[in-house]
Amino acid sequence: MTIHPLVVRVTHWINALAILAMVLSGWRIYNADPLFGFTFPDDWTLGGWLAGALQWHFAAMWLLFANGLGYLAYGILSGHFRRKFFPFSPRAALRDTLDALRLRLKHDDLSIYNAAQRAAYLGVIALIVLLVLSGLVLWQPVQVQAIGMLMGDYEGARYVHFFCMAGIVLFVLVHVLMVALVPRTFPAMITGKIRRNS
Ligand code: HEM
Repeated sequence: MTIHPLVVRVTHWINALAILAMVLSGWRIYNADPLFGFTFPDDWTLGGWLAGALQWHFAAMWLLFANGLGYLAYGILSGHFRRKFFPFSPRAALRDTLDALRLRLKHDDLSIYNAAQRAAYLGVIALIVLLVLSGLVLWQPVQVQAIGMLMGDYEGARYVHFFCMAGIVLFVLVHVLMVALVPRTFPAMITGKIRRNS
């Protein structure tokens, strides 16, 4: 039985690559003018130097933007989001997250996301949207003044952009850990299929 439609699988893996390139090149750009009292190790960054990192960042940005738009349009129009992420209960999300932390959360039926997953996926989608919007303010502060004002102008947008990145990195670490704990979810995200009794 197919649990992950082809569009979701393709956009998921393109998104993972784009995020990786954006985060690593973003760390290099951050190092050129750090917002806080630390920098990222150069070996963990992409682009080699500021101009190279900016090129990677912009290239990956278009990939993330076009691919993300495709995923959002499919998710909304096909009913995928409604079926997989809703109904959503914050109380159930809290309960499932606490169970997951105690390694007590069951994920037997891979065709249904538990409430902790629903919260994490909806949350990371919102973070990526905010990341792109704050990135737009940093790139074109004059053209997107209205959004910039909501974020506290250029300086505020830098903080929003940084904390969205930090939230996404945290999500990815936990997400990959969860996949490692329930490894049969991984092939299913490639082939889309599970056996009926798995
Ligand atoms: C880098 C950023 C990543 C983001 C933003 C992300 C986000 C997501 C989202 C939103 C979903 C739900 C998809 C849907 O049904 O519409 C998902 C599912 C999934 N992701 Fe990721 N992902 C990322 C990276 C990864 C990586 C690196 C792996 C592999 C280790 C991975 C493995 C999976 C698997 C196996 C599922 C299905 C989970 C299940 O069936 O329980 N993801 N991811």
